[in-house]
Amino acid sequence: MRATDGAKEEAMDGTSGGTNGTAALIELTGVSKIFHTDEIETHALSEVDLQIGEGEFLSIAGPSGCGKSTLLSLLGLLDSPTEGEYVLDGSPVSGLSGSQRATIRNRHIGFIFQAFNLIGDLTVFENVELPLTYRGMAAAERKERAMKALERVDMPHRIKHYPSQLSGGQQQRVAVARAVVGDPLILLADEPTGNLDSSNGEAVMNLLAELHGDGATICMVTHDPRYADFAESTLHLFDGRIVDRRSNGATRELQAHGYEVVTPERTLS
Ligand SMILES: Nc1ncnc2c1ncn2[C@@H]1O[C@H](COP(=O)(O)OP(=O)(O)O)[C@@H](O)[C@H]1O
Ligand SMILES: [Mg+2]
Repeated sequence: MRATDGAKEEAMDGTSGGTNGTAALIELTGVSKIFHTDEIETHALSEVDLQIGEGEFLSIAGPSGCGKSTLLSLLGLLDSPTEGEYVLDGSPVSGLSGSQRATIRNRHIGFIFQAFNLIGDLTVFENVELPLTYRGMAAAERKERAMKALERVDMPHRIKHYPSQLSGGQQQRVAVARAVVGDPLILLADEPTGNLDSSNGEAVMNLLAELHGDGATICMVTHDPRYADFAESTLHLFDGRIVDRRSNGATRELQAHGYEVVTPERTLS
């Protein structure tokens, strides 16, 4: 799922991007995020170092308020770190203007939220087409790409419906189509199954696993261990710090050999 139109290079100020097989697609170094509200200072993230490789499927776990959504917002350029550096596909994002950041978000990042976040007065087709409309893409190409994305999530028969006429599971599948329609570098999903019953949750997870199988890089927040297991590895956050990062395959292997694998609950420091 790599961009082919060279737009990112433009947006990222001509710096040559591109991973070379060893560099990470995403690299955070010493990233902290402090929120100031009234007299209160909240350290949502503290000194986070994180690398995510191209094609990786990472899940993020941890108790409520530990900084999971803040981390996704930073990765998705919806917010900026208070301290530290974020290098996306070889280019530092710190010096970018608001409009450059918006361009990168539109072209290279796909978001999936717990609450679906579809636009209620647009049809299914229009919702999926919207990110391409913002790019100024011609109508014929928009149509082709939107239909392909809707076929991928098995929703092409509902293109004229409005979100309120769909079940939660169907709405989330449309949201996945909207997230992938622009062929993003990375998909960010914040508790994508949080509002779904288990069968719809599983369907959405299978869809993400399928996209990952086709090469998508995915970073997903979930508090459900059944779903965390769909990912290759799991990052555990506690109080804004990374306390563990573990390959799920290795965990399954250990369990298969009779070892008990304990999930960390407290910070190591
Ligand atoms: N916009 C904000 N303003 C002030 N505090 C915030 C803001 N966003 C998040 N926080 C605080 O930062 C901490 C981490 O929040 P969040 O990343 O949403 O946690 P999680 O997604 O793990 O539940 C919490 O203490 C939360 O209250
Ligand atoms: Mg959250």
